[in-house]
Amino acid sequence: MDGTHAPAPMRGRSQPDRAAVAQHPRLTVVEHPLLATQVTLLRDVRTPAPEFTRAIEEVTRFLLWAALADTATAPMPVPGHSGEPVPGQRLAERIAALAILRAGLGMLEPVRNLLPSAPLYQIGVRRDESTLQPTVYYTNLPNSYAEIDHLLLLDPMLATGGSLRAALQIVRQGYHGRVSALGIIGAPLGVQTMLDADPDVRIYLAALDDHLNDRGFIIPGLGDAGDRIFGTL
Ligand code: PRP
Repeated sequence: MDGTHAPAPMRGRSQPDRAAVAQHPRLTVVEHPLLATQVTLLRDVRTPAPEFTRAIEEVTRFLLWAALADTATAPMPVPGHSGEPVPGQRLAERIAALAILRAGLGMLEPVRNLLPSAPLYQIGVRRDESTLQPTVYYTNLPNSYAEIDHLLLLDPMLATGGSLRAALQIVRQGYHGRVSALGIIGAPLGVQTMLDADPDVRIYLAALDDHLNDRGFIIPGLGDAGDRIFGTL
């Protein structure tokens, strides 16, 4: 489709200013020089799929670090090299992750490494390019969330927020505990949509971008994360 006839579902739709959402207490934009270099790689259109995916993983590690900073721990002594027990710690909260397919799959590796016993759920949500409306096409969620203290939603892109909101609405049918949404890049509209949709959700991003263009793409953004991770451009 050429640019003249491309759908423009955002045309005429109002969007919050970046400054209006940037200071919200439930939004954390993680800042660190190393994180900035990884986000720069992601924004660079020349970055090939393997390096793009590796940068997504590195950024996700920073997001996990921020989102789980106040996680409770419990003592766990371990045998030390001298033969004596040495003090250690284990997480005292049960953490689970929910990847929003497809692109959220790219954020799973650091979760598996740092939280090896965390259940990893999936939900498939596809955004219609001409309407920007989400369709949920797959769910793999637990029957009960009774043992979960903190659920991490994983999706690199928060554009209109419709996809993540749809996922959270389904989760909230059975889970009323703590939820943190981890994303690489967010637009002000997507952040505001999520904050309005749930009074408790917290959002962790590596970058809060400026706006969505007429087609609903994040500007400056990084392109379609799913396509760049899986090489399906
Ligand atoms: C992209 C992205 C988010 C969603 C963001 O997924 O990964 O899930 O769009 O847009 P929204 O905030 O306006 O809903 P897409 O539908 O392209 O599917 P994919 O992950 O399979 O590429």
